[in-house]
Amino acid sequence: MFITAEGVEGCGKTTILKMVYEKLVNDGYNCLLTREPGGVKISEQIRQIILNKENTELDDRSEALLFAASRRQLLVQKIYPALKENKIVLCDRYVDSSLAYQGGGKKLGVQNVLNINLFATDHTLPDLTLLFDIDPRLGLERINDNKNREVNRLDLEKIDFYNRVRETFLDLAKKYTERYVIIDASKNIEEVFNNTYKIVKDRIDGNR
Ligand code: TYD
Repeated sequence: MFITAEGVEGCGKTTILKMVYEKLVNDGYNCLLTREPGGVKISEQIRQIILNKENTELDDRSEALLFAASRRQLLVQKIYPALKENKIVLCDRYVDSSLAYQGGGKKLGVQNVLNINLFATDHTLPDLTLLFDIDPRLGLERINDNKNREVNRLDLEKIDFYNRVRETFLDLAKKYTERYVIIDASKNIEEVFNNTYKIVKDRIDGNR
């Protein structure tokens, strides 16, 4: 079972996914928790290029291709082996982030970005995608309140960009109804966690 978490910055998906992972492990499930861009050495190296604030010349299509390359490497080295061992794979961001950020946010077109990602992933799409939906303004406010979090190059993009990203995620949720679940991420962390865990648990139980 392959589960991904998506949403704009400050939606809380990383925190919630970690809590879900810990509870699943505690309940005896065999799980892998990983993240994008990164997760394995080569992908982490690619991540450094993409998120480096000094790389202002990085072209949008190059960026989309780098995300896809990083994703491919993570799939081959970590996700495929874990799925083969029947693990529940929880991944913080995946193809849908590229569709929303590069396709929608950077206006490269969702279909164009999907095409390179279908090649990169050999059509491997998640069984379940958790969309942590929040108004980007609220998400960015949360980040600014959290002084420990480093602001990366993509964080500096304008609010219009994040609004496009959010809208693209919501369009994707309408298109891929069988794998998408929208979670209201504006609620408090306990409530978001409880809602998320129930969705994940129901899906796992229905699948086994
Ligand atoms: P990260 O520090 O991991 O942020 P977050 O905790 O919000 O996931 O940085 C990832 C950044 O990269 C984030 O701004 C989203 C962006 N991104 C894309 O633009 N396209 C992609 O395909 C992926 C995976 C991430």
